[in-house]
Amino acid sequence: MASVNVPLGDRSYAIQIGPRLLPGLGEACSRLKLGHRCAIICDTNVGKRYAKIAYDSLLKDGFEPCLIIVPAGESAKSLKTVQSCYDRLAANRLERKSFIVALGGGVVGDLAGFVAATYLRGIDFVQVPTTLLSQVDSSVGGKTAINHPLGKNMIGAFYQPQRVVCDLNTLQSLPQRELSAGLAEVIKYGPIADMQFLDWLDQNLDALMARDPKALGYAVQRSCEIKAYVVSQDERDVGMRAALNFGHTFGHAIEAGLGFGEWLHGEAVGCGMVMAANLSQRLGLVDKAFVQRLTHLIDRAGLPVVGPKLGADNYLQHMRVDKKAQSGEIRFVLIDPPGKAIVRGAPDTLVADVINHCCAG
Ligand code: GLY
Repeated sequence: MASVNVPLGDRSYAIQIGPRLLPGLGEACSRLKLGHRCAIICDTNVGKRYAKIAYDSLLKDGFEPCLIIVPAGESAKSLKTVQSCYDRLAANRLERKSFIVALGGGVVGDLAGFVAATYLRGIDFVQVPTTLLSQVDSSVGGKTAINHPLGKNMIGAFYQPQRVVCDLNTLQSLPQRELSAGLAEVIKYGPIADMQFLDWLDQNLDALMARDPKALGYAVQRSCEIKAYVVSQDERDVGMRAALNFGHTFGHAIEAGLGFGEWLHGEAVGCGMVMAANLSQRLGLVDKAFVQRLTHLIDRAGLPVVGPKLGADNYLQHMRVDKKAQSGEIRFVLIDPPGKAIVRGAPDTLVADVINHCCAG
């Protein structure tokens, strides 16, 4: 088992990465200073597969768990679901010292984290991410949120977990499309922070697609190391943490333009990275060989590299409401040079050229 520390002073915590960690969840929790009563929050799909394993493990180690099952899908990130979670926590008499286990992918992690951040003004929580995307990105760094009809993740809090437990075995049952979506967030870490990791990904992509446990373990570990470093430097996302949004500005326009849910988030990010790399090249920050190399890797990961033809104006309109925009000016995460990210604006005409070049015609 590997362990990655997220160094945040008195909010520091460990990310445990390894096979078959879920049956040992109770033991892992008993090493933390947590109360006895706890609630496992998971969705209907993950619940069928993993809730009993988590529940039995917590019970065996002396905890008193209750199970809260929420609907599967993005719609669970709502005030209505939050209210139903509060109702169950109160009915089960969870106290200030009690804790929540977020068992599932990004949606459940965001929702359960937000419930933990607000119930009784904040109780402890443990992230148990079961998808590649949540293991390498959303479960680490303390971003918790629900959606508002006017925007995704509009209501939330920075609230760090006490522990993240990444059981690599849960990745074996992921649908291939979700594995690919998670790989987009893994690939992201190369261009923004570590070109040696990009070399490693070039060499090991086939093994990752075949779910080789050793390759998956290293990919999750290296991704978490990079994310932990970035978060430790900019916990509240006022500076360098924006680098983690490489590909997300174009990706957000794809998701919003097609209607959320049409493409998976990771698919939109994969294609968005191709577009952001193209924009970096047009601004003279990287060369063509880098763009081709990244595009090829994203393609090999089973991700789309050609954007949907929504029209440049449509893309630009959606990008103007991106969280990084300042006074209506779109800010892009670009690569300069490979291995380092910068945030800056670009002329609309150049962005439109990139969109026309990168989208299906
Ligand atoms: N997923 C981007 C961040 O955690 O900042």
